[in-house]
Amino acid sequence: MARPLARTVDGAARNWPRIGCGVVVAVIAPLATAAAQTPEDPGVFKGRKIADVMSYRGAPWLERATRIEEEHPDELMAALPVEAGMLVVDVGCGSGYYARRLAAAVGPAGSVLCNDIQPEMLSIATQLAAEAGVTNMSTVLGTESDARLPQGEVDLILLVDVYHEFSEPEAMLQSMREALAPDGVVALAEFRLEGRSARHIKLEHRMSIEQVMKEWIPAGYELASRIDSLPTQHLFLFRAAR
Ligand SMILES: C[S@@+](CC[C@H](N)C(=O)[O-])C[C@H]1O[C@@H](n2cnc3c(N)ncnc32)[C@H](O)[C@@H]1O
Repeated sequence: MARPLARTVDGAARNWPRIGCGVVVAVIAPLATAAAQTPEDPGVFKGRKIADVMSYRGAPWLERATRIEEEHPDELMAALPVEAGMLVVDVGCGSGYYARRLAAAVGPAGSVLCNDIQPEMLSIATQLAAEAGVTNMSTVLGTESDARLPQGEVDLILLVDVYHEFSEPEAMLQSMREALAPDGVVALAEFRLEGRSARHIKLEHRMSIEQVMKEWIPAGYELASRIDSLPTQHLFLFRAAR
């Protein structure tokens, strides 16, 4: 904050040459305080520009064959604390690429909720799941601030390549925390901002470890573990802070 403030004071002094020095200080001081307290621009959260929501028209891209080599989805799935019989949610499920894998992992005794804010995405996910013979998946239409999940019951929430699109991240973080069962886990996968492994992804659709921690820890989460072996993504496992 110190440098922009200094520029503001210098600029103001140059713009008002006929006002005496003491007056400048008196006028500038409240302005400087207001600048320090200025909230972030809409669309910015903790210094990060929030990405645009990916349209359902791009759903075929979510089913691209190259995801296998880019993301190693089997390795990602193997890192999740998912077991037969669980209630799991794929928040921002898109076309259901991971929801279908979760459905296989929880088996017929478990169930998957496929959540998204675009009803068209949920229709696509439902159709692809039916074509794949999935019978234990249903859909939940969320809002930008509320995932609309059962409270205190969800064993695992998975977010792949979606959190950076949340227009209301604090509300969504609270909504997901309230949905977790007492030992529930939220798994967050985001393309790496650091390095070049995810250079094919736009900057606003990637996140650094530092930024994720800056946003999630104050929101009432604690890090259970982080998996660094995926080719292009960070994978964080969070629990509600006790
Ligand atoms: C890039 S796609 C990823 C889809 C899926 N997770 C995957 O990896 O294939 C991001 C999805 O997040 C959804 N989304 C954005 N904001 C959301 C919110 N607040 N709640 C639920 N879904 C959201 C979008 O509608 C979109 O379907």
